[in-house]
Amino acid sequence: MEKQLQQLREAMTSDKTKLSNTRIIAVASGKGGVGKSNIATNMAVNFARQGKNVVLFDADLGLSNINILLKVLPQYNLIDVIRKHRKMKDVLADSGYGFQFLGGTQGFSGLANITDVMLDYFVQEMMTLSFAHVIIIDTGAGIGKTVTSFLSSADDVIIITTPEPTAMADAYGIMKVLAVDIDTQPSSIHLIVNKAKNHQEGLEVSQRITQACENILSIKIRYLGSVPEDPSINKAVMHQVPFSVFNPKSKATVALKAIMHRLQNQDSKQRKGLFGLLERMILRQEN
Ligand SMILES: Nc1ncnc2c1ncn2[C@@H]1O[C@H](COP(=O)(O)OP(=O)(O)OP(=O)(O)O)[C@@H](O)[C@H]1O
Ligand SMILES: [Mg+2]
Repeated sequence: MEKQLQQLREAMTSDKTKLSNTRIIAVASGKGGVGKSNIATNMAVNFARQGKNVVLFDADLGLSNINILLKVLPQYNLIDVIRKHRKMKDVLADSGYGFQFLGGTQGFSGLANITDVMLDYFVQEMMTLSFAHVIIIDTGAGIGKTVTSFLSSADDVIIITTPEPTAMADAYGIMKVLAVDIDTQPSSIHLIVNKAKNHQEGLEVSQRITQACENILSIKIRYLGSVPEDPSINKAVMHQVPFSVFNPKSKATVALKAIMHRLQNQDSKQRKGLFGLLERMILRQEN
């Protein structure tokens, strides 16, 4: 069976340039309910508006809820690719907002204990996602094994916190986990403060976290900005429409645009892309 993985590696290596072009952005938080799914979904909307090919992954194993935010119920999910040999193109759902969406459920934990044959098929199907300029992964809250492995193989990790001390402590907790192993550190770790009273509060919260990270963990965190507490987000969720579509002029929509501008200006030079993500999956299988 080792031979099969060896061949897979070779196939990936010959496509390395193409596979490395897809920017992998993982959105995470320590504490739940801080706005990950809303921010990930609206980032996808914004990238799509720029004409980029985008795939949004719902990798939240517990409470996958992007389908609710988009009012789309995907027929299949990743588990159908991993265990039932379904094609990736059949599993991707149209979000209705110019990007593709991959439904949640137990797909990613389904990657544990799979055979080489299953992994081989899965990785080959994942390689078909190289048409995407960006893959955004909405991970579950906390620092389970699946989440950290996604985070460490992403090009950009975006940690979301709110000004609540518990959320801040948990955001720091994730950064600490990411900082432990220099080999598995993502190229860039970013921070967004959501539900901030104002710009100043966002800045203060970010400084406390980034300074602790620099002083204690010796890692650099890039602050992308804050999204204000904005009742139009709740309304958009109630209507099951992404907030930046529901209200293009809301404070939250404007703030997210500025955040994306900064994110796009900070593209890493050493992008691993899909290649990095898939290489890690194979490595995990080998060990
Ligand atoms: N900036 C904001 N202003 C007001 N309400 C917000 C804001 N951001 C998110 N919310 C509200 O917070 C709730 C949680 O948001 P969301 O589902 O995006 O969080 P999450 O981090 O993905 O949660 P989970 O950890 O459960 O996956 C939603 O009901 C949303 O309406
Ligand atoms: Mg969520």
